[in-house]
Amino acid sequence: MCGIFAYLNYLTPKSRLEVLDLLVTGLKRLEYRGYDSTGVAIDSPDSKNIVMVKRTGKVKVLEDAILEHFSGGEYSEPVMTHIGIAHTRWATHGVPCERNSHPHRSDEGNGFVVVHNGIITNYNDVKTFLAKRGYEFESDTDTEVFAKLVHHLWKTHPTYSFRELVEQAILQVEGAFAIAVKSKHFPGECVASRRSSPLLVGIKTKTRLATDHIPILYGKVLPRSDSTSEFMPLEEKEVEYFFASDASAVIEHTNRVIYLEDDDVAAVRDGTLSIHRLKKSLDDPHAREITTLKMEIQQIMKGNYDYFMQKEIFEQPDSVVNTMRGRVRFDGNAIVLGGIKDYIPEIKRCRRLMLIGCGTSYHSAVATRQLLEELTELPVMVELASDFLDRNTPIFRDDVCFFISQSGETADTLMALRYCKQRGALIVGITNTVGSSICRESHCGVHINAGPEIGVASTKAYTSQFISLVMFALVMSEDRLSLQQRRLEILQALSNLADQIREVLKLDSKVQELAKDLYQHKSLLIMGRGYNFATCLEGALKVKELTYMHSEGIMAGELKHGPLALVDGSMPVLMIVLRDPVYVKCMNALQQVTSRKGCPVIICEEGDEETKAFSSRHLEIPRTVDCLQGILTVIPMQLLSYHIAVLRGCDVDCPRNLAKSVTVE
Ligand code: G6P
Repeated sequence: MCGIFAYLNYLTPKSRLEVLDLLVTGLKRLEYRGYDSTGVAIDSPDSKNIVMVKRTGKVKVLEDAILEHFSGGEYSEPVMTHIGIAHTRWATHGVPCERNSHPHRSDEGNGFVVVHNGIITNYNDVKTFLAKRGYEFESDTDTEVFAKLVHHLWKTHPTYSFRELVEQAILQVEGAFAIAVKSKHFPGECVASRRSSPLLVGIKTKTRLATDHIPILYGKVLPRSDSTSEFMPLEEKEVEYFFASDASAVIEHTNRVIYLEDDDVAAVRDGTLSIHRLKKSLDDPHAREITTLKMEIQQIMKGNYDYFMQKEIFEQPDSVVNTMRGRVRFDGNAIVLGGIKDYIPEIKRCRRLMLIGCGTSYHSAVATRQLLEELTELPVMVELASDFLDRNTPIFRDDVCFFISQSGETADTLMALRYCKQRGALIVGITNTVGSSICRESHCGVHINAGPEIGVASTKAYTSQFISLVMFALVMSEDRLSLQQRRLEILQALSNLADQIREVLKLDSKVQELAKDLYQHKSLLIMGRGYNFATCLEGALKVKELTYMHSEGIMAGELKHGPLALVDGSMPVLMIVLRDPVYVKCMNALQQVTSRKGCPVIICEEGDEETKAFSSRHLEIPRTVDCLQGILTVIPMQLLSYHIAVLRGCDVDCPRNLAKSVTVE
């Protein structure tokens, strides 16, 4: 949902070409957030102007344009202090084209340039206000009003500092944003802020920083001419700052970051960083902590794989173990979820559990609902965040609401979280991104620890979300005597899971062959029920996202109520038929399909000759406990959608029109 990246070097000589290289690399890491157009802004060689390059398409197109545009020797000269800003876009207002690409500027002289992620909802009002004052707009975006608003404030308040100008501007805008602003009137300075869209600041110094905290300054700001005493002095003089939508863009430079909070205004002047807020409430902290990222650079590289998605599918034997690491003790059959253990007594007293998410994260809730009902003996509601909000769903103080989100930033999920929190429910976050908004705004939670997921289509995060919810169910049933046998069976299955996933991944070449049969079709129906219904939904989502084929996940019990009309000898159908309590019902569905000349691909258990006899095309998966089957059955679906996408020539990691982190409603 747009990636923003800015880089500031202070007393650390870098040529403009080096700065551009840094900006492009940063954008490549953020490309999963949006990739329909890109742009950068740096200082002109005489440092008196700002030069921008923008392109429609992916970062590679921008990179080529930069090589062409900045070939002159003057761009190789080192500069002691410089600030560059960059953006990769996922269009919300205005079609993807150079005119709508960021950075957006305040005036023809490029006085202020802005990169933005989010939506300024009152942009029309601001635009009308500015148009009356003579401003002419050159794009269809909401962002442009911000650049022009800052310019207007600069004209009307000539004594304001750069930070004050941006602060005054953010007071006027509504909606969601993460922004970074550069100005030729304030050389060497950068101001950034966020509200409901993620933003962090990476800090790189030669030696360790003198402090782990940056104090927050509140209230009226000092005029521009005042000293910099308000800023946090660093022991180091030479310093580099990185402003980014996410940690993957800074990890190759530094592991020291500050996650900004809503309405923080971070400004760098004379090489020092300050964080400012206009108002202080009683529970506001005094400082923002500098955190050390645990991420490794290798985690965000593709390695020997062709695509991130492919790498992430094949990482699942390890990622599921990482989700359980330090939590499941197979020798003592015990599970401790450190992030929620203090809340378990409260959760046990609740009226109901609500699982809320979007897309794949929602499917992980569908996948585990039945087990949660069984092991917690509580009513469990599963909700799509957007629909949940549309309905103004009643929420009570004794509800426990789980917010499941890989990124931890999905706007619909975050809004639903705030809605439930306001109504007094206990908020549990299930996320993969440490420091994300959902993490920070939850009362307690579970990090799924799947490692960074870059491919837009979620794979390993799904299986890790699934396991996190299974672990929660096991914790909730720890002291239920009648459930001990069931718990042991599940724990035993969890201990074999990584090896079984490895077995399923060996089906890769068989799945690839199957993809060759299917990739030219228009549609694929995926049927199953019980514990495997979620795999049908998730499989169909993967096929749609990656291959642009129509695909539908069908609850096999509903087949005779409509979808059967679609079945004939030519309609591609995939059916999941495993030896579990709904086996007989699944076999009925299978027969209904084959008797309409359907020739389904069957996912069945290893050696299940009876089921296999119904079709010549099958994928056999190892046997596991019913409630974990969904982990093993989803992997062939991930592989199938991947191979179909490759065969259809689709961009696997960056499907058209999509973005990984959807930070707008
Ligand atoms: C977007 C992505 C999906 C993802 C969904 C929820 O729509 O394209 O792949 O499942 O957001 O994302 P989250 O980060 O909240 O899990």
